[in-house]
Amino acid sequence: MKYKLFETKFYGDNTGHLISFEKGVNCPFDIKRTFYIFDTIPNKVRGQHANRNSEFILIAISGSCKIRIDDGTTQEIVELNTPHKALYLDKMIWKDMYDFSYNAILLVLTNTIYDESEYIRDYQEYLKEIKSGD
Ligand code: TYD
Repeated sequence: MKYKLFETKFYGDNTGHLISFEKGVNCPFDIKRTFYIFDTIPNKVRGQHANRNSEFILIAISGSCKIRIDDGTTQEIVELNTPHKALYLDKMIWKDMYDFSYNAILLVLTNTIYDESEYIRDYQEYLKEIKSGD
């Protein structure tokens, strides 16, 4: 499965901490877009899609949430609950985000400009495309 949960280095002293994401250091792609998910209603599931071209890095910069990752064969559940843990997801991974805590802010970095046509929002279509790419 093409994902990686990793701890990232942070800088700091007794005044606070800082984390940077930089291509070639702790990010494998050119960052073209960033967005964050917040005010998520408890018990709601977000995501529920795969992307043909986008790779992502997800960081719970506040609070926590869970990510269900599916590559068409295997499923894994990852919990993000600290700003110094990051989840890398390759393209063509199906993902569901859920169990957001009340204060959760999920920061997302990606290598693409937003393009709805690269989203696969139907799971059966996703399985079909994954199998045809094998
Ligand atoms: P969506 O991908 O469904 O969010 P999530 O993955 O959190 O479930 O996107 C929600 C809405 O926001 C949808 O109308 C598309 C829009 N959107 C943008 O315009 N630009 C973006 O970069 C993203 C990620 C979403």
